[in-house]
Amino acid sequence: MTRFYATTPIYYVNAEPHLGHAYTTIIGDAITRWHRLLGDDVKYLTGTDEHGLKIQQAADAANMGPQEFTDSIAPKFAEAWTRLNIANDDFIRTTEPRHKAAVTELLQRCYDAGDIELDTFAGKYCVPCEEYYTDDELGEGDLCPIHQRQVEYFEEENYFFRLSRFEDRLLDWYSKRPNAMIPEHRGNEVLGLIKSGLRDFSISRTSLEWGIPLPWDSKHVTYVWFDALTNYLSAVGFGDGTDEYKKWWPVDYHLIGKDIVRQHCVYWPAMLMSAGVELPKQWAIGGWLLSGGEKMSKTSGNVVNPLDLIDDIGLDGFRYYVLAETPYGSDGDFTYEGLVGRYNSDLANNLGNLMARVATVVGKMCDGIGTAPAGDSPLAEAAATAFAETAAQWGIAQPSRALEATWQLIRATNAHLETNEPWKSEPGPDVDAVMGDALEALRIVAILASPAMPETSQAIWERIGMTGNVIDQRLPAAAAWGQYAPGSTVIKGDALFPRIKL
Ligand code: MSP
Repeated sequence: MTRFYATTPIYYVNAEPHLGHAYTTIIGDAITRWHRLLGDDVKYLTGTDEHGLKIQQAADAANMGPQEFTDSIAPKFAEAWTRLNIANDDFIRTTEPRHKAAVTELLQRCYDAGDIELDTFAGKYCVPCEEYYTDDELGEGDLCPIHQRQVEYFEEENYFFRLSRFEDRLLDWYSKRPNAMIPEHRGNEVLGLIKSGLRDFSISRTSLEWGIPLPWDSKHVTYVWFDALTNYLSAVGFGDGTDEYKKWWPVDYHLIGKDIVRQHCVYWPAMLMSAGVELPKQWAIGGWLLSGGEKMSKTSGNVVNPLDLIDDIGLDGFRYYVLAETPYGSDGDFTYEGLVGRYNSDLANNLGNLMARVATVVGKMCDGIGTAPAGDSPLAEAAATAFAETAAQWGIAQPSRALEATWQLIRATNAHLETNEPWKSEPGPDVDAVMGDALEALRIVAILASPAMPETSQAIWERIGMTGNVIDQRLPAAAAWGQYAPGSTVIKGDALFPRIKL
């Protein structure tokens, strides 16, 4: 059995989860659900990033201790993921003992390798980014390029990770793995970053207490990124002597936003090289979800609560929108008009309409009992093409294109019904064959759409009379044409996706 380990970034707990966080988490959920359909042994990890100055400041502002504060926010992420039907296998918090143990182990290995050294640092720092910037990276008036807010001047004794030593090694490693970072244009940006020269980066603070102490010098606590990145190792028991780590490492996919590529695709592989740990297999780099033309973030004050959207449009309508609206890797603009427009066109008018039509005609013309698909149906080829393309696109972390491929089968099935107009014919073998084809197409659509819309797919599965769970089907076998079980009772039910008016 193939094993598949995928991760989301761990989210800062200075604020409650918003649509920007939900975006990456839903995409990772759908990709890992696809791998479960393929029969892979999956581990899907998400969690929260709880140390550092930004969190300390948020706790101070709330008049709480940092532990108490993070204990109050971390469960909100876990609850939001439950409500969004995220099937994560683990939820890591950087305040857990298992995480501290892994960070300590990784730090010690890099220190022993001679790649961590003490130095004095003076520089301009953006607290929301938890990152130093050089003058040429900053806008006029020392504005952070991401948050458009003034950076602060810091000077202190820090330990540094000697990233500058890794330039050639990183370029060499990536040159042998042209698909390590997808989509390609995002990977090229990273290679450009490395080629433009790498600066050593600070990994510790003495002015901060809210963090994990360095094992060889406890006056210092680990700077956020060394701490945060290691979560991917802690969750699989790095350094704890169990076999978990051997089973799951290296990770198959790190799903990350384009704002954190430097840390994930430059710092992280260098840290792992230093520590003698195998590097991740792939990074899938996403764009931003914008609101009013700006990145949705707490700092910009333009956040949308994903749970409100579920109330408006339904869970699967929302998940579908997030997955289908924008090709992964590009920025997408969130608007209510866009959300409702996509819901009405793809879900109400296409999928929902197909389900309602099939159930109505089978009810009237076939006594509500499903009929057999034709072996030589023109839809058989459409289904095979849809499956092949859907699989190819999920395989390269392109949910919007995967769903587009699945929707081709929905459109072909609607067109097949319109060409044959079974509702105008007399009941009989011709009608039975057309409806059998449509039921079979719906069976395959239910499977292929299940990573995006688990509940709706199960509802379709049951309405066409299939037994068991759609998510227990295994691909590619289950996508082969002709497996619909004739004689099953077909249920009409309420509209799957009632049209929504703006
Ligand atoms: N804690 C760090 C990540 C450490 S990972 C070892 C962090 N946290 S964050 O909460 O600020 O954002 C994490 C990720 O959330 C982003 O990289 C991105 O994947 C996702 N997003 C947050 N806002 C987003 C949008 N507006 N749009 C798309 N994704 C966004 O950075």
